[in-house]
Amino acid sequence: MPATIKLDATKSAHIEKAADLLLAGHLVAVPTETVYGLAADASNEQAVIKVFEAKQRPVGHPLIVHVASVDRVRLWVDHIPETAMQLIKEFWPGPLTLLLPKKSGISDFITGGNPGVAVRMPAHPATLATMEELGRDLVAPSANPYGRISPTTAEHVLAGLSGKIEAVLDGGDCSVGIESTIIDLTGDTPVIARPGQIAQRDIEACLGITLAPGRIASQAVPGSVKRHYQPVTPTVGVATDRFAGLLPDFTPAGEKLGVIWWQSPPGERASESIMLSADPNEYARMLYTAMHSMDKANVDRIVIELPPRESRWLAIHDRLKRACSEQFT
Ligand code: TXA
Ligand code: MG
Repeated sequence: MPATIKLDATKSAHIEKAADLLLAGHLVAVPTETVYGLAADASNEQAVIKVFEAKQRPVGHPLIVHVASVDRVRLWVDHIPETAMQLIKEFWPGPLTLLLPKKSGISDFITGGNPGVAVRMPAHPATLATMEELGRDLVAPSANPYGRISPTTAEHVLAGLSGKIEAVLDGGDCSVGIESTIIDLTGDTPVIARPGQIAQRDIEACLGITLAPGRIASQAVPGSVKRHYQPVTPTVGVATDRFAGLLPDFTPAGEKLGVIWWQSPPGERASESIMLSADPNEYARMLYTAMHSMDKANVDRIVIELPPRESRWLAIHDRLKRACSEQFT
């Protein structure tokens, strides 16, 4: 394949080009408000299969279908339940994926053979415009090699997938920075299958119900495997109250330490350091960019100062648990 081309999401000719490439069955990474997605025409099974090859993702890991309008959801499900309609009205376009009972005839490459299909309407104008131009829906997993950190800039996409995909549509930095919340609506009661910026309490307030606490349906979401979102550099997480005490243990003579922190400045122990935020949304927006740049900084180990154990940090703890080979709490 020729070198991956970079398209500019602010230019309508480039959006048309992205749509043309997708129509021809090629892969194009597209910006969303959460992370960049590796998009393929959802109605073209050969194109969908290329997504697994480019990411080296095992087949059986299902893909989210991205739509540009609520009407298009009806192409993937027989019926949109009332709970889904309420959530759609409140949160779309936005970082909420709905897992709904699928229509028959959908490719098993998209659903992994599951009874549900995952759908979401992303909140990025360029990607919505691309889908409208294309007149079709897009499957789009995060645009990173399997198991690695999700990309939040076009540069991150190119660092992982250059030469393996036709193009990346550069739409700037992702504003949310972590993957969408997934809510499973295929059972008797809604279950949060992957936490994200839209939190359990937001969903409860919208639906006027209480969800069972902490029921993470990891079985139904194969992408929730424990090792995921990992830097190549060995990475550990350390709670704030153990941080100062443990840092010396992580810097044997001659080794370089990269520290990602939010409250406790690491001082001279760190060869590289990146400060994040005490606000969870701001922290999420910066986290993957910090992990990508630390991974490139030639350090021997990355230490991440863990945020507080509070519910508003749940989605971040979920991602950090996967990014770190070990956590000291
Ligand atoms: O924010 C996001 O959701 C991003 C952007 C690009 O939209 N996409 C994303 O896709 O994170 P991916 O493939 O990296 O993660 C999607 C998760 C996986 O864990 C997958 O197993 C689960 O959603 N999933 C997708 N379709 C499913 C289905 N039919 N049944 C169960 N789980 C499903
Ligand atoms: Mg992913």
